[in-house]
Amino acid sequence: MIHAPSWRVLATSLFLVVGAGQATAKDVPASRGPGQAAIASANFLATNAGFEVLAKGGNAFDAAVAVSSTLAVVEQQSSGIGGGFMALLHKASDGRNVFIDARETAPKAVDMKVYVGKDGKPNRDVSTNGPLSAGIPGEPAGLAWMAEHYGKLPLSASLAPAIRIAKEGFQPDARFIGTIEDRKDVLARYPASAAIYLPDGRVPAQGWTLRQPDLATTLERLAVKGADGFYKGETATLLVSASRVAGGNWTAADLEAYRVKEREPLTVDYKGYRIVTAPPPSSGGVAIAEVLNILSGFDLTKLDLAHSTHLTIEAMRRAFRDHNEYLGDPDFVKMPLDMLLSKYYADGLRATISPDKATPSDLLPTAMSADPGMHTTHFSVIDADGNMVASTLTVNLEFGSGFVAKGTGVVLNDEMDDFALVPGQPNAFGLRGALANAPEPGKRMLSSMSPSFVFGADRTAVIGSPGGSTIITQVLEGILAFIDGKSASQITAQKRYHHQYLPDRVDVEAGAFDEATAKTLTDMGHVLKNRSPWGFMNVVTWDHRTNALDAATDPRRPSGLGKVGTVKSVP
Ligand code: DON
Repeated sequence: MIHAPSWRVLATSLFLVVGAGQATAKDVPASRGPGQAAIASANFLATNAGFEVLAKGGNAFDAAVAVSSTLAVVEQQSSGIGGGFMALLHKASDGRNVFIDARETAPKAVDMKVYVGKDGKPNRDVSTNGPLSAGIPGEPAGLAWMAEHYGKLPLSASLAPAIRIAKEGFQPDARFIGTIEDRKDVLARYPASAAIYLPDGRVPAQGWTLRQPDLATTLERLAVKGADGFYKGETATLLVSASRVAGGNWTAADLEAYRVKEREPLTVDYKGYRIVTAPPPSSGGVAIAEVLNILSGFDLTKLDLAHSTHLTIEAMRRAFRDHNEYLGDPDFVKMPLDMLLSKYYADGLRATISPDKATPSDLLPTAMSADPGMHTTHFSVIDADGNMVASTLTVNLEFGSGFVAKGTGVVLNDEMDDFALVPGQPNAFGLRGALANAPEPGKRMLSSMSPSFVFGADRTAVIGSPGGSTIITQVLEGILAFIDGKSASQITAQKRYHHQYLPDRVDVEAGAFDEATAKTLTDMGHVLKNRSPWGFMNVVTWDHRTNALDAATDPRRPSGLGKVGTVKSVP
């Protein structure tokens, strides 16, 4: 068990974290930087782009712009400038933590009826494929915002690697080509998508070079004009006309109205660590905080694996119940956050947990299921000065809507499916929302994205993952592993499990539990179900005792790409 320092000690030690209701930035001493930088992303070209920009004098925020925009070129199945992101920034100079909400918004003409089939069930084709599934993108505005407010370099410098790779081309890896295979029927529906991803009408073979001149031009307009280069002018005109020709409902006004939001991150203290994480419109931070608050009343280290896992599953079950019920876009709905985040509320929930018996979810008042894939992406950065970025980016499902707006090279997201389009009915991740997450013009759809920092007296972690609803539990388990003293590669390799209230079952990665533990859990009433795949976690850690950085990417991904989580000394 790691020694738990008091917050007074932590506050006067080498760094300090500021969250909601905490000391102001002015009270915070500057931290000593690690003197080198670490980046863990899902693709080596993106990681290299981050280091390229650091070498040009950029900071972690410039590197984050470079990594994000390069992922938008080389890992388009997961994120892109037709999508959105949520990022947590830590400024070493004043200790401030900031949450950048570049989540997509519903267009003004959003009409819930189009997402309901004749049988009253969600029409998954409309909500996940084609232009009606796309929210107004947030990523371009978010990148411009980050460069302008936090970076040291002009946006054009940080976008340069992505533009170069889009022009010169790159060889997509097996994962990229596999997702084209998965989505080929939808990609084939739209000529501009087929022209890029299905050359000669077929899924390309490995060794194929993908050059994207339209995407390079779109990124250049963003580089030169900032957000206006995407949300106004030529790119905006192309996006709106392509969307409308294909049956979409976007207008120029929707694009012009898009705004990035800076929000106060959520903060939760657990066993001497401070976790800084995503606020709504992500549900992740609230759920992670609830689970940690519940678990703080137990000493998990005194329990065997079956019993500590049982309590964690029970905490997950209760946190996900609240997720369905209460959470949505804070600019549109009032949420009982004070209650959900309070220790007293957690005390009440803890009291309903039996030490050795599963609580059937339908015994808890009200409601959620899912299949995480390899889409959506997370990267973590720490620079030599100690600035940090945890950023999770998404177009939702693989290649988002599958729809490329002609002339832009931009794949539009299918984030509309993250709204509760048909109340009480599951979305693609089995999440069943309520009115709080119903679509409305300009509203942000609820997300599970949970970019997080974990601050301890001795060590700090930057952590996050894709995985739909399992993002929350994967990040939670990563946080617990870090607090248990695990290294970056142990955290990313650790076997995972997940419970989301409904369906009432524990999704388990092969090898997570030995036979005896699985039997004990089953005897307690838990239904265990094997599940695969599990996210793509990218973690960077900083040990303040030695000042060493460590970076690791998820070993589950057969990338053949070499080491994508790297630590480098940057001059
Ligand atoms: O924002 C969200 O919660 C989802 N759009 C994330 C999708 C995702 O992680 C897909 N990957 N497995």
